[in-house]
Amino acid sequence: SGQKNAAAACVTMATHRLGSRALSRVPGARFLSQAQCKARLVLGIETSCDDTGAAVVDETGKILGEALHSQKGIHLETGGIIPTVAQRLHKEHIEKVVQEAVDNSGIPPCELTAIATTIKPGLALSLQVGLEYSLKLIEQYKKPFIPIHHMEAHALTVRMLDMVEFPFLVLLISGGHSLLAIARGVSDFLLLGQTLDEAPGDTLDKVARRLSLKNHPACCTMSGGEAIECLAKMGNRLHVSLTQPISRHLDCDFSFSGLRNQVNQIIIKKEREEGIQEGQILSCVCDIAAAVQHTVAAHLAKRTHRAILFCKKEGLLPHPNPALVVSGGVASNEYIRKALQIVTEANGFSLHYPPPKLCTDNGIMIAWNGIEKLRAGIDVVHKPEGIRYEPKAPLGINFSEQVKKAALKVPYLKLNI
Ligand code: KG4
Ligand code: ZN
Repeated sequence: SGQKNAAAACVTMATHRLGSRALSRVPGARFLSQAQCKARLVLGIETSCDDTGAAVVDETGKILGEALHSQKGIHLETGGIIPTVAQRLHKEHIEKVVQEAVDNSGIPPCELTAIATTIKPGLALSLQVGLEYSLKLIEQYKKPFIPIHHMEAHALTVRMLDMVEFPFLVLLISGGHSLLAIARGVSDFLLLGQTLDEAPGDTLDKVARRLSLKNHPACCTMSGGEAIECLAKMGNRLHVSLTQPISRHLDCDFSFSGLRNQVNQIIIKKEREEGIQEGQILSCVCDIAAAVQHTVAAHLAKRTHRAILFCKKEGLLPHPNPALVVSGGVASNEYIRKALQIVTEANGFSLHYPPPKLCTDNGIMIAWNGIEKLRAGIDVVHKPEGIRYEPKAPLGINFSEQVKKAALKVPYLKLNI
C-alpha cells in the first residue's frame, strides 16, 4: 500500500508545473525510490551555447520526451551570437522547454532518477541559466544531479542507437568545436588535437556572411555551412586556389583562421575584378564555396588520417574493428562525410554518425550522457552546492604533445569526391 500511495503522489506531482511557480511541494508527497522504478530515467538540460534543449531518456536509449528552442535564426540576423542576447533567450525559454520535454514523456518528475545538465564548456552566461534552473529543480524534486561536459556528450551520443564499444576515435566538428580524441570510457578521454584558432563551422559561417549568402535566393535561410554545401554543388573548386592550413605541422591540431583570411583576400580581389561592392553576389560564388568546402574537408581528413595512424602505431584502439565516430553540426556535410569515408575505408576503420538531429546541440545527448554516467556509477552528485559552471574545460587528458613528437607523415590519399 506504501507503493500505491507513492504512485498516487506521483500522479499529483505530475499535474503540478515545474519551475519557480511550482516550488510548493504537494503536502505529504513521497517519491518513488530507484528500486521501485522499472528503469532509470534521466532528464537532460542543455544551454551551453545557443540552443535551449531538454529531454527525458531511459536506460535503453529510448527518447520519452524532448523539446528544443533554437536561437540560430536570431543570431543569423545579428551576424553572430551576442552572449547577453543568448542568455536572455535561454531565460525566456528554459521553463517552457523543460516542461514540454517532461510533459511529452508522460513521466511524473518524481519518477526521474536524476537530472543531468551541461555545466562546461560554453558561454558563461548561457551555462549559468541551465545550471541555476537545474539546481532549482533538484531542490524541488530532491533528485541527484549529474554535471555534464558538453563535448563528452557529443562524443557518446552515437551509443544511444549504435553501441560502438570503447575505445573509439572521435572527431567533433561544429560551430564551436574542432577536436580529435580517443574515447576510452565514459568520462575517460585522450585528446589528440584541437583547433588552434576557430572551429570549421564558425569559419564556414563567416565566409558565408562575407559572401552575403543571405542575399542569395538559393540559400538565404540556411546556416553558413549548409549554404556553402548547397552552392558548392554548382561550383568548380579547381577555379579557386587555396592552400592547406598548417600542412607542415605533423600533428592532429586544426587551424581555420588562415584559410578564412585567404578566402577574404580572394573575395576582395574578385569584387574588384567584377566591379561589385560587398553585399552583392559574386558571379564565381559557387566556385569559392566549392574550394572552401574542399579545403575544410581535406584538412579534417588529413588530421583524422594522422590520428588513425597514431592510434595504430601506439595500439590504442581494438584490433580488429577500430571505429571512428563523427559528430557536431558540420558532420552533416555530405562532402566532408565522403572525405572521411575515403580515409576510414583506406585504413580498415568503421565510420559512425549519430542521426543529423542528434549531431547538433540538444537535450537528448545530455540526458543520454547522464544515463551513461549512472550506469558507470560516476559523477552522480547528491549535494550539488559546490557545483559551478566552467566556460573553459579541456576534454580528457591532453595527448597532443605525444602526437606531435611522433611526427607521423600521412601518405597522400586522393580525395575523389
Ligand atoms: O553543432 P551545432 O549545431 O552548434 C554548435 O556550433 O555547437 O553546429 C552548427 C554549425 C554551424 O557553424 C553551421 O554552419 C554548421 O554547423 N553546419 C554545417 C552544415 N550544417 C550545419 N557545416 C557544413 N555543412 C553543413 N551541411
Ligand atoms: Zn555542441
